Amino acid sequence: MRCLVTGGAGFIGTALANRLAEAGHHVRALDDLSAGDPSALHPEVVFTRGDVRDRPKLWTLLQKVDCVFHLAARVSVPESILYPREYNDVNVGGTVALTEAIRDAGVERVVLASSATVYGPQPSQPVNESAWPHPQAPYAVSKLAAEHYIFSLGELYSITTVALRIFNAYGPEQRVPPVHAPVIPHFVRNILSGASVVIHGSGRQTRDFVHIDDVVDALIAASEARDAHGKVINVGSGEETSLDDLVALLGELTGKRPDVIRNPQQGGGLPRLVADLDQARGVLGYFPHVPLREGLVEMIEEARVALRARRL
Ligand SMILES: NC(=O)c1ccc[n+]([C@@H]2O[C@H](COP(=O)([O-])OP(=O)(O)OC[C@H]3O[C@@H](n4cnc5c(N)ncnc54)[C@H](O)[C@@H]3O)[C@@H](O)[C@H]2O)c1
Repeated sequence: MRCLVTGGAGFIGTALANRLAEAGHHVRALDDLSAGDPSALHPEVVFTRGDVRDRPKLWTLLQKVDCVFHLAARVSVPESILYPREYNDVNVGGTVALTEAIRDAGVERVVLASSATVYGPQPSQPVNESAWPHPQAPYAVSKLAAEHYIFSLGELYSITTVALRIFNAYGPEQRVPPVHAPVIPHFVRNILSGASVVIHGSGRQTRDFVHIDDVVDALIAASEARDAHGKVINVGSGEETSLDDLVALLGELTGKRPDVIRNPQQGGGLPRLVADLDQARGVLGYFPHVPLREGLVEMIEEARVALRARRL
Protein backbone atom coordinates (compact mmCIF):
# COMPACT_ATOMS: atom_id res chain seq x y z
CA MET A 1 0.00 0.00 0.00
CA ARG A 2 1.10 3.58 -0.66
CA CYS A 3 -0.05 5.92 2.04
CA LEU A 4 0.20 9.41 3.42
CA VAL A 5 0.15 10.03 7.16
CA THR A 6 -0.72 13.62 8.03
CA GLY A 7 0.55 14.62 11.45
CA GLY A 8 3.15 11.94 10.75
CA ALA A 9 5.75 13.38 13.14
CA GLY A 10 3.35 13.37 16.10
CA PHE A 11 2.93 10.75 18.80
CA ILE A 12 0.43 8.48 17.03
CA GLY A 13 1.58 9.46 13.52
CA THR A 14 5.17 8.38 14.15
CA ALA A 15 4.12 5.01 15.59
CA LEU A 16 1.76 4.44 12.67
CA ALA A 17 4.19 5.53 9.95
CA ASN A 18 6.95 3.37 11.43
CA ARG A 19 4.76 0.29 11.72
CA LEU A 20 3.60 0.71 8.11
CA ALA A 21 7.17 1.19 6.87
CA GLU A 22 8.36 -1.87 8.82
CA ALA A 23 5.62 -3.88 7.11
CA GLY A 24 6.99 -2.84 3.71
CA HIS A 25 4.41 -0.19 2.77
CA HIS A 26 5.42 3.02 1.01
CA VAL A 27 4.87 5.78 3.53
CA ARG A 28 4.88 9.54 3.17
CA ALA A 29 4.49 11.69 6.25
CA LEU A 30 3.41 15.33 6.34
CA ASP A 31 3.73 17.48 9.45
CA ASP A 32 4.21 21.20 10.09
CA LEU A 33 6.24 20.37 13.22
CA SER A 34 4.14 22.70 15.35
CA ALA A 35 4.12 19.85 17.88
CA GLY A 36 5.83 16.96 16.11
CA ASP A 37 9.42 15.82 15.78
CA PRO A 38 10.48 13.74 12.77
CA SER A 39 13.69 12.41 14.31
CA ALA A 40 12.14 9.10 15.41
CA LEU A 41 10.70 8.26 11.99
CA HIS A 42 11.82 5.05 10.26
CA PRO A 43 14.46 5.81 7.58
CA GLU A 44 12.11 4.50 4.86
CA VAL A 45 9.39 7.05 5.73
CA VAL A 46 9.57 10.00 3.35
CA PHE A 47 9.00 13.07 5.49
CA THR A 48 7.80 16.45 4.22
CA ARG A 49 7.43 19.50 6.40
CA GLY A 50 4.27 21.38 5.53
CA ASP A 51 0.78 22.45 6.46
CA VAL A 52 -2.18 20.13 5.93
CA ARG A 53 -4.07 23.09 4.40
CA ASP A 54 -1.42 23.57 1.69
CA ARG A 55 -3.28 22.11 -1.30
CA PRO A 56 -0.46 22.36 -3.88
CA LYS A 57 1.78 20.42 -1.50
CA LEU A 58 -0.99 17.89 -0.86
CA TRP A 59 -1.46 17.45 -4.58
CA THR A 60 2.16 16.38 -4.94
CA LEU A 61 2.14 14.15 -1.87
CA LEU A 62 -1.09 12.38 -2.83
CA GLN A 63 0.06 11.15 -6.23
CA LYS A 64 -0.34 7.34 -6.46
CA VAL A 65 -1.45 7.12 -2.82
CA ASP A 66 -4.04 4.45 -1.91
CA CYS A 67 -4.93 5.58 1.59
CA VAL A 68 -4.56 8.71 3.71
CA PHE A 69 -4.39 8.54 7.48
CA HIS A 70 -5.45 11.99 8.62
CA LEU A 71 -3.95 12.70 12.02
CA ALA A 72 -2.68 16.29 11.67
CA ALA A 73 -4.48 18.41 14.23
CA ARG A 74 -4.15 20.74 17.14
CA VAL A 75 -4.84 18.42 20.07
CA SER A 76 -5.19 20.26 23.38
CA VAL A 77 -8.66 20.70 24.89
CA PRO A 78 -7.68 23.61 27.20
CA GLU A 79 -5.73 25.36 24.42
CA SER A 80 -8.74 25.05 22.12
CA ILE A 81 -10.79 27.06 24.61
CA LEU A 82 -8.25 29.89 24.33
CA TYR A 83 -7.82 29.67 20.55
CA PRO A 84 -11.03 28.25 19.02
CA ARG A 85 -10.43 29.90 15.65
CA GLU A 86 -7.03 28.25 15.30
CA TYR A 87 -8.58 24.86 16.15
CA ASN A 88 -11.33 25.37 13.63
CA ASP A 89 -8.86 26.49 10.96
CA VAL A 90 -6.50 23.54 11.37
CA ASN A 91 -8.79 20.70 12.41
CA VAL A 92 -11.81 21.53 10.29
CA GLY A 93 -10.22 23.60 7.49
CA GLY A 94 -7.36 21.12 7.24
CA THR A 95 -9.78 18.21 6.86
CA VAL A 96 -11.77 20.00 4.16
CA ALA A 97 -8.63 21.01 2.24
CA LEU A 98 -7.27 17.48 2.47
CA THR A 99 -10.52 15.87 1.34
CA GLU A 100 -10.70 18.17 -1.70
CA ALA A 101 -7.12 17.26 -2.57
CA ILE A 102 -7.92 13.56 -2.08
CA ARG A 103 -10.79 13.92 -4.55
CA ASP A 104 -8.56 15.69 -7.08
CA ALA A 105 -5.77 13.12 -6.76
CA GLY A 106 -8.16 10.15 -6.94
CA VAL A 107 -7.18 8.60 -3.59
CA GLU A 108 -9.53 5.76 -2.61
CA ARG A 109 -9.68 5.88 1.17
CA VAL A 110 -9.21 8.19 4.13
CA VAL A 111 -9.01 7.17 7.79
CA LEU A 112 -9.64 10.05 10.19
CA ALA A 113 -8.26 10.09 13.72
CA SER A 114 -11.25 11.46 15.58
CA SER A 115 -11.63 11.60 19.31
CA ALA A 116 -13.77 10.24 22.15
CA THR A 117 -14.06 13.83 23.39
CA VAL A 118 -16.88 14.27 20.85
CA TYR A 119 -19.13 12.25 23.19
CA GLY A 120 -19.02 14.69 26.12
CA PRO A 121 -21.24 13.73 29.05
CA GLN A 122 -23.30 10.60 28.38
CA PRO A 123 -26.06 9.00 30.44
CA SER A 124 -24.58 5.53 30.12
CA GLN A 125 -21.16 3.94 29.87
CA PRO A 126 -19.47 2.18 28.13
CA VAL A 127 -20.39 4.57 25.36
CA ASN A 128 -21.17 3.26 21.90
CA GLU A 129 -21.11 5.03 18.57
CA SER A 130 -24.88 5.55 18.43
CA ALA A 131 -24.76 7.93 21.42
CA TRP A 132 -25.71 11.49 20.56
CA PRO A 133 -22.50 13.57 20.78
CA HIS A 134 -22.26 16.47 23.23
CA PRO A 135 -18.90 18.05 22.41
CA GLN A 136 -18.04 20.52 25.14
CA ALA A 137 -14.87 22.23 23.93
CA PRO A 138 -13.76 23.65 20.58
CA TYR A 139 -11.35 20.73 20.12
CA ALA A 140 -14.22 18.23 20.40
CA VAL A 141 -16.45 20.33 18.14
CA SER A 142 -13.67 20.46 15.55
CA LYS A 143 -13.23 16.67 15.58
CA LEU A 144 -16.97 16.10 15.20
CA ALA A 145 -17.10 18.62 12.34
CA ALA A 146 -14.15 16.83 10.71
CA GLU A 147 -16.08 13.54 10.91
CA HIS A 148 -19.11 15.10 9.25
CA TYR A 149 -16.94 16.62 6.53
CA ILE A 150 -15.16 13.41 5.60
CA PHE A 151 -18.43 11.46 5.55
CA SER A 152 -20.42 13.98 3.53
CA LEU A 153 -17.60 14.82 1.11
CA GLY A 154 -16.71 11.13 0.93
CA GLU A 155 -20.24 10.32 -0.26
CA LEU A 156 -20.22 13.17 -2.75
CA TYR A 157 -16.78 12.36 -4.16
CA SER A 158 -16.91 8.53 -3.85
CA ILE A 159 -14.10 8.25 -1.33
CA THR A 160 -14.15 5.43 1.24
CA THR A 161 -14.16 7.08 4.67
CA VAL A 162 -13.70 5.81 8.23
CA ALA A 163 -13.44 7.79 11.48
CA LEU A 164 -11.89 6.27 14.59
CA ARG A 165 -12.88 7.81 17.90
CA ILE A 166 -9.68 7.29 19.84
CA PHE A 167 -9.90 7.35 23.65
CA ASN A 168 -6.86 8.23 25.84
CA ALA A 169 -3.86 6.94 23.93
CA TYR A 170 -0.59 6.47 25.77
CA GLY A 171 2.73 4.78 25.17
CA PRO A 172 6.45 5.12 24.65
CA GLU A 173 7.76 8.25 22.92
CA GLN A 174 4.71 10.22 24.08
CA ARG A 175 5.88 13.77 24.63
CA VAL A 176 5.29 15.78 27.78
CA PRO A 177 4.71 19.39 26.71
CA PRO A 178 5.27 22.06 29.41
CA VAL A 179 1.52 22.78 29.63
CA HIS A 180 -1.53 20.52 29.26
CA ALA A 181 0.54 17.34 29.23
CA PRO A 182 -1.27 14.01 28.71
CA VAL A 183 -1.94 12.43 32.08
CA ILE A 184 0.06 9.16 31.91
CA PRO A 185 3.50 10.40 30.76
CA HIS A 186 3.08 13.44 33.01
CA PHE A 187 2.29 11.36 36.12
CA VAL A 188 5.03 8.80 35.33
CA ARG A 189 7.67 11.52 35.03
CA ASN A 190 6.55 13.37 38.16
CA ILE A 191 6.31 10.28 40.34
CA LEU A 192 9.72 8.98 39.23
CA SER A 193 11.41 12.33 39.78
CA GLY A 194 9.77 12.89 43.19
CA ALA A 195 7.56 15.78 42.02
CA SER A 196 3.93 15.97 43.07
CA VAL A 197 0.97 15.04 40.89
CA VAL A 198 -2.11 17.23 40.89
CA ILE A 199 -5.52 15.59 40.65
CA HIS A 200 -8.32 17.95 39.71
CA GLY A 201 -11.86 16.99 40.70
CA SER A 202 -12.63 13.98 42.87
CA GLY A 203 -10.01 11.59 41.46
CA ARG A 204 -12.83 9.12 40.90
CA GLN A 205 -13.36 10.27 37.30
CA THR A 206 -12.58 7.41 34.93
CA ARG A 207 -10.89 7.24 31.55
CA ASP A 208 -10.16 4.55 28.99
CA PHE A 209 -6.39 4.38 28.51
CA VAL A 210 -5.45 2.61 25.29
CA HIS A 211 -1.92 1.59 24.35
CA ILE A 212 -0.39 3.07 21.20
CA ASP A 213 0.21 -0.42 19.71
CA ASP A 214 -3.53 -1.08 19.89
CA VAL A 215 -4.34 2.31 18.36
CA VAL A 216 -1.98 1.58 15.45
CA ASP A 217 -3.59 -1.86 14.99
CA ALA A 218 -6.99 -0.17 14.69
CA LEU A 219 -5.78 2.50 12.25
CA ILE A 220 -4.25 -0.10 9.95
CA ALA A 221 -7.32 -2.34 10.21
CA ALA A 222 -9.46 0.66 9.24
CA SER A 223 -7.39 1.13 6.10
CA GLU A 224 -8.12 -2.47 5.06
CA ALA A 225 -11.58 -3.34 6.41
CA ARG A 226 -14.27 -4.04 3.84
CA ASP A 227 -17.33 -2.86 5.75
CA ALA A 228 -15.92 0.25 7.38
CA HIS A 229 -17.11 2.88 4.91
CA GLY A 230 -19.04 5.73 6.53
CA LYS A 231 -18.58 4.35 10.04
CA VAL A 232 -17.39 5.92 13.26
CA ILE A 233 -15.63 3.34 15.39
CA ASN A 234 -14.47 3.53 19.00
CA VAL A 235 -10.83 2.71 19.70
CA GLY A 236 -10.15 2.22 23.37
CA SER A 237 -9.14 -0.55 25.75
CA GLY A 238 -12.69 -1.14 26.97
CA GLU A 239 -11.30 -0.86 30.53
CA GLU A 240 -12.30 1.92 32.90
CA THR A 241 -9.65 3.33 35.25
CA SER A 242 -10.08 6.15 37.74
CA LEU A 243 -7.30 8.71 38.21
CA ASP A 244 -6.95 7.60 41.83
CA ASP A 245 -6.47 4.00 40.71
CA LEU A 246 -3.99 5.09 38.04
CA VAL A 247 -1.87 6.93 40.62
CA ALA A 248 -2.04 3.98 43.01
CA LEU A 249 -0.95 1.60 40.24
CA LEU A 250 1.93 3.90 39.29
CA GLY A 251 2.98 4.00 42.94
CA GLU A 252 3.01 0.20 43.06
CA LEU A 253 4.90 -0.20 39.77
CA THR A 254 7.52 2.50 40.48
CA GLY A 255 7.98 1.50 44.12
CA LYS A 256 7.52 5.18 45.06
CA ARG A 257 4.86 6.84 47.15
CA PRO A 258 3.17 9.43 44.91
CA ASP A 259 2.90 12.91 46.42
CA VAL A 260 -0.68 13.75 45.45
CA ILE A 261 -2.05 17.29 45.59
CA ARG A 262 -5.82 17.34 45.37
CA ASN A 263 -7.67 20.21 43.75
CA PRO A 264 -11.36 19.29 44.10
CA GLN A 265 -12.44 22.87 43.35
CA GLN A 266 -11.29 22.62 39.76
CA GLY A 267 -13.48 20.36 37.64
CA GLY A 268 -11.95 17.03 36.70
CA GLY A 269 -13.77 16.78 33.39
CA LEU A 270 -16.28 14.06 32.57
CA PRO A 271 -17.16 11.74 35.48
CA ARG A 272 -16.79 8.60 33.32
CA LEU A 273 -15.60 7.73 29.84
CA VAL A 274 -15.03 4.20 28.54
CA ALA A 275 -15.37 2.66 25.10
CA ASP A 276 -17.87 0.07 23.99
CA LEU A 277 -15.83 -1.98 21.51
CA ASP A 278 -18.53 -4.07 19.81
CA GLN A 279 -18.35 -2.13 16.56
CA ALA A 280 -14.51 -2.17 16.55
CA ARG A 281 -14.51 -5.93 17.07
CA GLY A 282 -17.11 -6.54 14.39
CA VAL A 283 -15.89 -4.16 11.69
CA LEU A 284 -12.14 -4.06 12.30
CA GLY A 285 -11.50 -7.35 14.10
CA TYR A 286 -9.95 -5.12 16.77
CA PHE A 287 -9.06 -6.72 20.08
CA PRO A 288 -6.78 -4.56 22.26
CA HIS A 289 -3.98 -6.69 23.62
CA VAL A 290 -1.82 -4.46 25.86
CA PRO A 291 -3.12 -4.36 29.46
CA LEU A 292 -2.63 -1.05 31.28
CA ARG A 293 -0.26 -2.57 33.82
CA GLU A 294 2.01 -3.87 31.06
CA GLY A 295 1.94 -0.58 29.14
CA LEU A 296 2.79 1.38 32.29
CA VAL A 297 5.76 -0.87 33.10
CA GLU A 298 7.13 -0.12 29.63
CA MET A 299 6.62 3.64 30.07
CA ILE A 300 8.20 3.65 33.52
CA GLU A 301 11.26 1.86 32.14
CA GLU A 302 11.55 4.36 29.30
CA ALA A 303 11.16 7.33 31.66
CA ARG A 304 13.78 5.90 34.04
CA VAL A 305 16.29 5.66 31.19
CA ALA A 306 15.49 9.24 30.09
CA LEU A 307 15.84 10.61 33.63
CA ARG A 308 19.15 8.78 34.13
CA ALA A 309 20.48 10.13 30.81
CA ARG A 310 19.56 13.67 31.83
CA ARG A 311 21.40 13.29 35.13
CA LEU A 312 24.62 12.06 33.48
N1 LIG B 1 -3.36 10.99 21.73
C1 LIG B 1 -4.65 10.76 22.02
O1 LIG B 1 -4.98 10.30 23.11
C2 LIG B 1 -5.72 11.05 21.00
C3 LIG B 1 -7.05 10.79 21.35
C4 LIG B 1 -8.06 11.06 20.43
C5 LIG B 1 -7.74 11.53 19.17
N2 LIG B 1 -6.44 11.80 18.84
C6 LIG B 1 -6.18 12.34 17.52
O2 LIG B 1 -5.09 11.65 16.95
C7 LIG B 1 -4.31 12.54 16.13
C8 LIG B 1 -2.86 12.49 16.55
O3 LIG B 1 -2.77 12.90 17.92
P1 LIG B 1 -1.41 12.82 18.74
O4 LIG B 1 -1.74 12.44 20.11
O5 LIG B 1 -0.40 12.04 17.97
O6 LIG B 1 -1.01 14.36 18.78
P2 LIG B 1 0.33 15.07 18.28
O7 LIG B 1 0.20 16.51 18.64
O8 LIG B 1 1.50 14.33 18.77
O9 LIG B 1 0.21 14.89 16.69
C9 LIG B 1 -0.45 15.82 15.85
C10 LIG B 1 0.55 16.26 14.81
O10 LIG B 1 -0.08 17.14 13.88
C11 LIG B 1 0.85 18.13 13.53
N3 LIG B 1 0.12 19.30 13.04
C12 LIG B 1 -0.61 20.20 13.75
N4 LIG B 1 -1.10 21.14 12.94
C13 LIG B 1 -0.70 20.82 11.67
C14 LIG B 1 -0.90 21.41 10.41
N5 LIG B 1 -1.61 22.55 10.26
N6 LIG B 1 -0.34 20.83 9.32
C15 LIG B 1 0.41 19.69 9.44
N7 LIG B 1 0.64 19.09 10.63
C16 LIG B 1 0.08 19.65 11.73
C17 LIG B 1 1.64 18.41 14.79
O11 LIG B 1 2.92 18.98 14.54
C18 LIG B 1 1.74 17.03 15.41
O12 LIG B 1 2.95 16.38 15.04
C19 LIG B 1 -4.96 13.91 16.28
O13 LIG B 1 -5.82 14.11 15.17
C20 LIG B 1 -5.77 13.80 17.55
O14 LIG B 1 -6.90 14.66 17.52
C21 LIG B 1 -5.42 11.59 19.74
